[in-house]
Amino acid sequence: MRVFGVDPKLYANRFSRNGYVYIPFALTDEMALSIMDFYRDIEAGSGPDVYRYDFTDEQLDEIRTFYGVVAGIGNELTISRNYLNIYHEIETHPHKDRLSLAYNMGLGLLSGPNSRVMLWPEASLEENTGENYGDYVRRVGGQDKITEELSKSAPISLALDLGDVVLFPGNRMYHHRLNPAGTVIYYFSFNETGMADRGPNRFERSQAA
Ligand SMILES: [Fe+2]
Repeated sequence: MRVFGVDPKLYANRFSRNGYVYIPFALTDEMALSIMDFYRDIEAGSGPDVYRYDFTDEQLDEIRTFYGVVAGIGNELTISRNYLNIYHEIETHPHKDRLSLAYNMGLGLLSGPNSRVMLWPEASLEENTGENYGDYVRRVGGQDKITEELSKSAPISLALDLGDVVLFPGNRMYHHRLNPAGTVIYYFSFNETGMADRGPNRFERSQAA
């Protein structure tokens, strides 16, 4: 089963110009429905303990290549995060991810009624080279400074519906999930430095990332 139904080459210019790319209906129908079945099994209590869909090696290669072509970063990507995230209503802040999550890709399953992924492509794209967001906050002088900086540029606001995909550099671009309740996203993250990520804990799988 193919993962994507679109040609990644078509999106490389957009990623390079805008720093991110949103691709509606990027997944094949079969893939979107199969990941949705996986989520329904979890909701029904018959899913696995770690919310990781059983992608074949071929599909994982396709996913790595797809990201590499869109982002123009070749094929030497390590997959560091690969799991379903079921959001509930929680308070989160705009942030940058840790270094192991340098490149993010969200595959849409369900989008809550007012739920949006927010991206700040025009704010600072300085890299978070730390192991967590706290390292970055300390380096730039506190969350208040970040809030002030983000108030100066308009964020992009996206709803990811079933089969839609968004790609953005998670440890460089500020991002945030607005009104998370009811949203289900399958996440992949990658890096070019061979870093493994820690495994997802239950909070991350079922609350927010
Ligand atoms: Fe994040």
